[in-house]
Amino acid sequence: MEPTLFDPLCYAEETQKENTIVIGLPSLLSKINKETSYIISGDALAALKQLPDETIQICVTSPPYWGLRDYGIPNQIGTEMDIYEYLDKLVKVFREVKRVLKPDGTFWLNIGDGYTSGGRAYRAPDKKTDNGHVVRGLPFRPPTPAGLKPKDLLGLPWRLAFSLQADGWYLRADIIWFKPNILPESVKDRPTIAHEYIFLLTKNERYYYDYQEILEPAASGKGYRNKRSVWTVNTEPYPEAHFATFPPALVLPCILAGSKPGDLVLDPFLGSGTTGLVALQQKRNFIGIELNPEYCELAEKRLIPYATVLRETHETED
Ligand SMILES: C[S@@+](CC[C@H](N)C(=O)[O-])C[C@H]1O[C@@H](n2cnc3c(N)ncnc32)[C@H](O)[C@@H]1O
Repeated sequence: MEPTLFDPLCYAEETQKENTIVIGLPSLLSKINKETSYIISGDALAALKQLPDETIQICVTSPPYWGLRDYGIPNQIGTEMDIYEYLDKLVKVFREVKRVLKPDGTFWLNIGDGYTSGGRAYRAPDKKTDNGHVVRGLPFRPPTPAGLKPKDLLGLPWRLAFSLQADGWYLRADIIWFKPNILPESVKDRPTIAHEYIFLLTKNERYYYDYQEILEPAASGKGYRNKRSVWTVNTEPYPEAHFATFPPALVLPCILAGSKPGDLVLDPFLGSGTTGLVALQQKRNFIGIELNPEYCELAEKRLIPYATVLRETHETED
């Protein structure tokens, strides 16, 4: 029994909404239709491997952070004891992203930093719940990585950026996401962290980037200028998700500069679906991959106002 390819044209007459989202089976991905958006419930690397080469115009994503949360799902990234194992997994996922990107495609990677454990091995559990399920902080702190000392800043974003550069990506920009509304930290021996990075990576030297789509007001108050590399955007938690979600305002400039209406946008760590939301609002389609089926449902619920959601489950007799 081979599953058949979902044919969006069969459904075109049934739908009043402009967009369609397929909750797709990974086995169908080799025949993706660019007029449709897809939410794939599964492991990012496994699902990406089934996508055809050079299909995606832009990838915007935020991978799980290292050593922060345990969602109790097999294959989740972020719970490795060894930071280098975590980095290696991400490099492999993003190698597949590079393969599926069009030659002029761009990759916008959001990632924040953290500190070594400072000698503490135990972390108090937090009490967050997600749709009634307990989402725990990792009950352990991963050991201090080789070459670092207790209390060292991990430098994780740059370690990842350099690893990706070594893997063939062009590292084109480090954008500082400045978060003015960040919660206070109980630290007295360093500044409170109020930023994360967005790295702009490309597959080739020349790529699609429409700077005019994201011009910002000039400092003089007259006219506009090229967008600067510090973006001030408030954090904006999505009420039902207890992991760090993208503020839509952070995703918007990436999608506007890096794609045109009708292009395919990818997020291999979809979470609550923010990348999909902005893609649909801007008349792009998207492919979102998310390991946790409950988050897939969350994303689906969030995106229903923008698209007709269809489940690809029908099969043919052989
Ligand atoms: C930081 S969150 C992404 C949040 C997202 N940007 C949003 O706006 O909601 C990272 C997500 O990656 C998912 N994840 C973890 N390991 C994964 C894997 N191996 N494949 C796909 N998704 C994974 C987690 O379940 C989590 O939802």
